[in-house]
Amino acid sequence: MVRGKRIGVLTAGGDCPGLNAAIRGIGKAAIDQYGMEVLGFRDGFRGLAEDRSVPLDSRLSGILTVGGTILGTSRDKPHRMLMNGEVVDMTSAIVATYERHRLDAIVCLGGDGTAKNAVRLVQAGLNVITLPKTIDNDLVLTDASFGFATAMDIATDAIDRLHSTAHSHHRIIVVEIMGNRAGWLTLGAGIAGGADVILIPEIPYSVQSIADAIGRRVQRGSSFSIVAVAEGAMNGEAASAYRAAAALRRSSTNPEEKESAVASIAAVQADQASNTLRLASQLEALTGLESRVTILGYVQRGGTPSAADRLLATRLGSAGADLINEGVFGVMVAARGEGTEPVPLEKVAGRRKPVPPDHSWVQAARHVGTCFGD
Ligand code: F6P
Repeated sequence: MVRGKRIGVLTAGGDCPGLNAAIRGIGKAAIDQYGMEVLGFRDGFRGLAEDRSVPLDSRLSGILTVGGTILGTSRDKPHRMLMNGEVVDMTSAIVATYERHRLDAIVCLGGDGTAKNAVRLVQAGLNVITLPKTIDNDLVLTDASFGFATAMDIATDAIDRLHSTAHSHHRIIVVEIMGNRAGWLTLGAGIAGGADVILIPEIPYSVQSIADAIGRRVQRGSSFSIVAVAEGAMNGEAASAYRAAAALRRSSTNPEEKESAVASIAAVQADQASNTLRLASQLEALTGLESRVTILGYVQRGGTPSAADRLLATRLGSAGADLINEGVFGVMVAARGEGTEPVPLEKVAGRRKPVPPDHSWVQAARHVGTCFGD
């Protein structure tokens, strides 16, 4: 009797709602549809390197609605893994684990960084597919990534609730939303929550422009404002410094120049940590309205996935099992319309999908009077 395929599953990068739904989707489809054996590996690629596995066959019931990941996760990279205080290339250890367990494929649930790591394992000769996971919604070539819908629901609910204290106290409430490199989550939740100002990394802002917009609201009788700001949103000066340094780091061949560019980037990023608090203080000084800050942080990545994310994760997981059965590897299972499509990992790895400043969501927000600080 031909044995069923044996597949490994891991979750890597930031956790998010929907990971367990995706583990369940790929696992149940592989087992029930194709008679495969499914092995989970703990804590991302580290679990492969250290051969820490757990049979998933009996662990897939009851996890559809559970937040986080039953496997644990990490941001460890196969080729640069901290082992006993030293950074080591663990690719060969991962290949050994794959062969020891006689695996036919590895399924990695993660974002753009995970896709980069998956490409390395493909180049080492392993069969790998990935499923798109991130609350940032910044993965290219897929209509959606699981995690985003739930995080947008959470952030929108928070903005709804923050309206109460804003209008009761005639205050500016500045709410920081996750998204260091892409503003999709802030943009989506800001629109859905009716934020008066939306600040995203892709559109550098002027504090004075924001203050002027808030002043116009006051003149129209609205003595409060909600400012939704992405973690990575920057004012014009910081954005220019960051973009110049990033361009120099990419283009320079001079070691000292590269080092200086890296230092400049680090300085901007360090300064960014207090950006939201500074912005609130500046707006209070410019408008005369009291301002308060709420940082949503990891609340946006917690708890049970929304129905939309459970549906998406199940669809992607099931399609992943189909591809493995067909022997299609080296791809990300992309959401495309009501279906899915395999996309070569090389086209996904390390690439990000920023918000185009002229995107229809941005236009819609501007048309209903939202200020983007520009
Ligand atoms: O990539 C998802 C994300 O939640 C970002 O939005 C956030 O900036 C980052 O991860 C936080 O990373 P960590 O979980 O390592 O603190």
